[in-house]
Amino acid sequence: MARLSIFRVKTVDSLLSEAETKGHQLKKVLGAFDVTMIGIGAIIGAGIFAMVGEAAVGAKSGFPAGPALIISFLLTAVACGFTALCYAELAAMCPISGSAYTYAYATMGELVAWIIGWDLIIEYAIGNVAVAISWAGYFNDFVKTAFGLDIPLWLRIDYRSFIQKAVTDPTVFDLASVPHLLGIPIIFNLPAVAIVLALTVLLVIGIRESTRFNDFMVVVKLIVLAIFIGVGFYYFRWENWTPFAPGGWKGIQVGAATVFFAYIGFDAVSTVAEETKNPKRDMPMGIIGSLAVCTVVYILVTVALTGMMPFMELRNKIAEPLIVGLEYNHVSPWLIGLVSLGSVVAHTAVLLVFQMGQPRIFFSMSRDGLLPPYFAKVHPRFRTPHVTTIWTGIVVAVLSAFCNIDEMANLCNIGTLFAFVLVCAGVIILRHKDPDRPRPFRVPGGMAIPVLGILFCIFLMNGLDKVTWIRFGLWLVLGLVIYFAYGFKRSALRAR
Ligand code: ALA
Repeated sequence: MARLSIFRVKTVDSLLSEAETKGHQLKKVLGAFDVTMIGIGAIIGAGIFAMVGEAAVGAKSGFPAGPALIISFLLTAVACGFTALCYAELAAMCPISGSAYTYAYATMGELVAWIIGWDLIIEYAIGNVAVAISWAGYFNDFVKTAFGLDIPLWLRIDYRSFIQKAVTDPTVFDLASVPHLLGIPIIFNLPAVAIVLALTVLLVIGIRESTRFNDFMVVVKLIVLAIFIGVGFYYFRWENWTPFAPGGWKGIQVGAATVFFAYIGFDAVSTVAEETKNPKRDMPMGIIGSLAVCTVVYILVTVALTGMMPFMELRNKIAEPLIVGLEYNHVSPWLIGLVSLGSVVAHTAVLLVFQMGQPRIFFSMSRDGLLPPYFAKVHPRFRTPHVTTIWTGIVVAVLSAFCNIDEMANLCNIGTLFAFVLVCAGVIILRHKDPDRPRPFRVPGGMAIPVLGILFCIFLMNGLDKVTWIRFGLWLVLGLVIYFAYGFKRSALRAR
C-alpha cells in the first residue's frame, strides 16, 4: 500500500477543484499581454547580455561557435519550442500555479511530482543566483561609467573566486587590503544580495505592482536591444562572417548548450496560471508568444554582434559582448552607458520573474501537504504567498553572496532540462490516460513533438560536465530524504 501510494496521481479535476476551494485563492489579475511580458521578462537577461561572449569565442571549451552562433540560437530555439508547446498544452488544461510540479502530479504520481518540484528549485532559485551575480557585474560597470563610483572588489565577488585570483593576480586581488573579522577576510557580493532583497520586498507587496514594474523593464530592454541591433547592422561587414563556423559542428553544438540559459524562462509563465484571468487562452499565448519574440530578438542581436566586428575581439571582455561590439566601432560613450543600463534592467526583470515563480511552486507543494502548511500562507492584505517569497529571497541572497556564476548557471541548465523532459513526458502520458479531456491548446502532430523535445533535452544534458551531474544527483538524493521523512507521511492525497 505504502509502496503504491508514492505513485498515486491526482486527477486533473481534483487539481482544479482543490485550487478553487481550499481558500488560498490568489488574485486573478493578469491578462494575455501581462503573461507574455512576464515571459519576455524572464527570458532576456544574462544569456544574451553576457553568455554569448563565451559561446562565440569558446574560451573555456576550446570550440568557438563564431558567427555560426546564429545557428546555435536557432537550434536551441527549436528545442525550446518543442517544450514550450508541451508546457502550453498542460498549462491551458491544468492552470495551477505549481507548473511542471503540478503536471507531474497529474501524470506520473506523487514521488515524481516531488522530485520535479525539488528540481525546479534548481531552475528558479539557483538560476536566480547566477543572474544576480551577473547583475552585480553590470551594475558595477554602470555606476562606474555613469558616476565614477567603483565598488571595492571584496564587496562584489564571491569568496572562493577572490582567493583563487589572489594567487594568480595578487596585486589586483590583494588580501591585505580586505577587512578582516576575527581573522577571516570579509569577501562577498553585496550588490547581488541587495538586488535580491529589494525585489523580495516588491514581490511581497503584490503581483500587480510587480508585473507593472516588469512591463516597464521589458519595454526598456527591448528598446535597448533594438538600438543595439540598429547600430550593429549599420556597422555590419560581410568579411566579419569569414570564417562563419570556425569551430565546425562541435562549436555550434557547444554554443547551443551554452546559450540554452538565454532561453530559460518561458516556462515561468505557467507559475502564474492561478493569477491569470483566462488561463486557457492566455497561458499558450504567453508561453509561445514570449519564446517567439525572444527568438527573433536573439537572432537579430547575434547577426548584429557577429557582423559588427571579428568575433575573436570578444575575448577582451568576454562577459560583456555587446559593449565590446560598440567599443570596437567607437560609438559614443553615452550609447555604451545606455546599453549597460539596459543590461542591468534586463537582468532585474529576470530576477523578478524567477523570484515570483519559485514561491508559487513551494506554495503548491505545501498545499499538497508535501511541505509544512506554513509555506502555503497567503498575506491577509496583499494576498501574495509572502512566507515562501521571503524564504526564497533569503536563500537566493545568501547564495548570491558566496557562489560562483558558472557553477550556478550549469546547475540551472541541468535542472531545467530535467524538468523539460518530464513535462514532455507528461503530455504523452496524459494523452494516453485522459484522451477525451478537452484541451484548449493541443500540441500539433501527435506524439512527435513531445518525443523530439525529450530527445533534444537529453542531448543537451549530455553536454554538461561531470561535476554538474554529481551536484544534481546529490540534490535529488537530498530531496528524496526529505520526501520520505516528511511529505510521504503528510501528503494530502495519501491522507484522503
Ligand atoms: N534566460 C534568463 C537569462 O538569460 C535566465 O538571464
